[in-house]
Amino acid sequence: MTVLITGAAGRTSRYVVRALLKNEPQMDLRLLVRSEAAAEKVQAEFPQLPHSAFAIGDYLESSTLPAAFQGVDVVFHNGPAFHSQETAMGIAAIDAAREAGVKHFVFCSVLFPLLHKLLNHEVKLRYFRIEEYLIESGLNYTILENINLQNVITKSVLPCGYSPKVLQGFLDLQDLADIARLVIVAPLSHNRARYELVGENCSLEDVAKTITRRTHLVKNVVCQQIPRDQVVAMDVTPVNVQGVYAQDALDRMLYYYNKRGIPGNDNTVRWLLGREPTTWKALVDRELGK
Ligand SMILES: NC(=O)c1ccc[n+]([C@@H]2O[C@H](COP(=O)([O-])OP(=O)(O)OC[C@H]3O[C@@H](n4cnc5c(N)ncnc54)[C@H](OP(=O)(O)O)[C@@H]3O)[C@@H](O)[C@H]2O)c1
Repeated sequence: MTVLITGAAGRTSRYVVRALLKNEPQMDLRLLVRSEAAAEKVQAEFPQLPHSAFAIGDYLESSTLPAAFQGVDVVFHNGPAFHSQETAMGIAAIDAAREAGVKHFVFCSVLFPLLHKLLNHEVKLRYFRIEEYLIESGLNYTILENINLQNVITKSVLPCGYSPKVLQGFLDLQDLADIARLVIVAPLSHNRARYELVGENCSLEDVAKTITRRTHLVKNVVCQQIPRDQVVAMDVTPVNVQGVYAQDALDRMLYYYNKRGIPGNDNTVRWLLGREPTTWKALVDRELGK
């Protein structure tokens, strides 16, 4: 089975690559990156991958895509966040997959794309319709709708771009990667599924308390709400925030998170993994090697 991972130099896709290399060593992996420099960066992280595993392509240059998709059985597609051309990129990837005769397309989307006040959610479904395009493409597909992907934070101050009291959904990136792997190895049993993926609901204050308790710090980890410009400068959000569109999308996201948060239900993650989702407590323990 040949599997193409797009955005392979990105944060999410690298977790998926790691999970596949660890658990499915016989799998023929192809990684789509945007440049030779990106290929070298990823190869440094995964030296077991041959250079021939990399395909260089750009979603916005469709002539670069056929070679990358040729002979592929399953595609895992993860586009860049907060990009004004994200829809065009998703559609280009779906078209390339269809033209190459790909058997299954796994699309890494976002939880509740119907929340149209959020630019980065709306782009996935309603206005620009990547999910709709995929559902109508004739391809077999699975859509993974994930929420805030957890990063490990072990500092004494937890910088918060939105209210630390708001209930928010989180998902461990390793859990997402494990789910992606399960779908990739048995795609037919997940055909036409749209999975809402949330591992735990809690506030950032809860996260700070968990880190304090699990790391046995003498001083409590404190939440510090920071202004929007500092969110960008401190790179609290793991996404690249460049250009007016991206900054508007970030502003709307922070406003929305501050006011409502996006909690969800963890049943789907539990069912897919056949175990409890990784909570913040488990995540901190894992990082501490407990
Ligand atoms: N972060 C979260 O908490 C979260 C939560 C839910 C959903 N999501 C979704 O996850 C996605 C972002 O994931 P991520 O954080 O892993 O993103 P990321 O680290 O920014 O990775 C995006 C990748 O896309 C590549 N890329 C950008 N433009 C490209 C182009 N024109 N052609 C080919 N490749 C291109 C980038 O390549 P370069 O390395 O060359 O720049 C990068 O490797 C978004 O769709 C977002 O909505 C994220």
